[in-house]
Amino acid sequence: MINEAISSVQKEFEAELPSVDLNSLEAVNALRVKYLGKKGSVTELLKQMGKLPAEERPAYGKDVNELKEFVSAQIENALAAASEHALEAKLAAGFVDISLPGDGIPAGSTHPLYDVREEIIDFFAHMGFAVDLGRDIETDWYNFEALNTPPDHPSRDMQDTFYLADKVMLRTHTSGTQIHYMETHKPPFRMIAPGHVFRVDSDATHAPMFQQCEGLVVDENISFSQLKGILQLFMNQLFGEGVKTRFRPSFFPFTEPSAEMDVSCVFCGGTGCRRCKGTGWMELGGCGSVDPNVFKNCGIDPEKYTGFAFGFGLDRIAMLRHAIPEIGLLTSNDQRFLNQF
Ligand code: PHE
Repeated sequence: MINEAISSVQKEFEAELPSVDLNSLEAVNALRVKYLGKKGSVTELLKQMGKLPAEERPAYGKDVNELKEFVSAQIENALAAASEHALEAKLAAGFVDISLPGDGIPAGSTHPLYDVREEIIDFFAHMGFAVDLGRDIETDWYNFEALNTPPDHPSRDMQDTFYLADKVMLRTHTSGTQIHYMETHKPPFRMIAPGHVFRVDSDATHAPMFQQCEGLVVDENISFSQLKGILQLFMNQLFGEGVKTRFRPSFFPFTEPSAEMDVSCVFCGGTGCRRCKGTGWMELGGCGSVDPNVFKNCGIDPEKYTGFAFGFGLDRIAMLRHAIPEIGLLTSNDQRFLNQF
């Protein structure tokens, strides 16, 4: 015969179990504490065993242990159900629909000026030219004087200079890198010097900062016709096979003779249009044979060596290639402009 106290606890538990919210971990836990906790009713029943006469203990013990196992099993099931429910609720709250389309990351592209610069470096590097980036800040010696441009020389008026201190300036052209190079290298050599240059100047086709690429070749028996040949190839590289070049006499203090190089208009092919002002030609850069005075300033014997030099604006090349109407667009960081490339 089962002990009455045991059966009443069992009945109570069986009556209570269906009413417990199995979705609530807290409710199930409370049920566990109520029956199996330190002062729980099943635990109390177990404690009573010591007070019973010895002969009653085995039967009582068997019954109370069966009850404990029954209650433990039920509560374990209930806890498992409640934990699962809690996990599901947590997942539902943080639901991510992986089938939704993502936010695309727009692909960037290289800047048109960067492309021109890379192409120029590539072209000349393949022809054995070294690349020297030079420096943005120059002294009077490198920017003017060593380039055969003494302080009172009228050509200094041609370039409005950003001075940083007395005889220290932002370079107005890349030609100063020629001097640095000749001071530190023995001929024969060929080099280019791409880089930023600065002038107090600003309109649709002039910017206070723009990029140039200088070129310099020095050896015995270097001639002007070699200069023309290399520049023709260079223009073919930039503007295609059909482009023609012409050289007009000009003046630069550091070259003698000097020339301006024009290319046949890249828009009309040379027949004349609005962009070339009807001439069929566009001015692209300066060049010439290295003036013997420049060689002397760099410790190179002008009796033994000759050379040529040239200088081009990279912005102008990018503008011609893409029909860009204003130089300022190239440095404006305007997405509407940049997204076109
Ligand atoms: N430095 C000249 C300029 O900025 C260009 C040039 C370079 C001309 C080399 C001749 C030789 O206009």
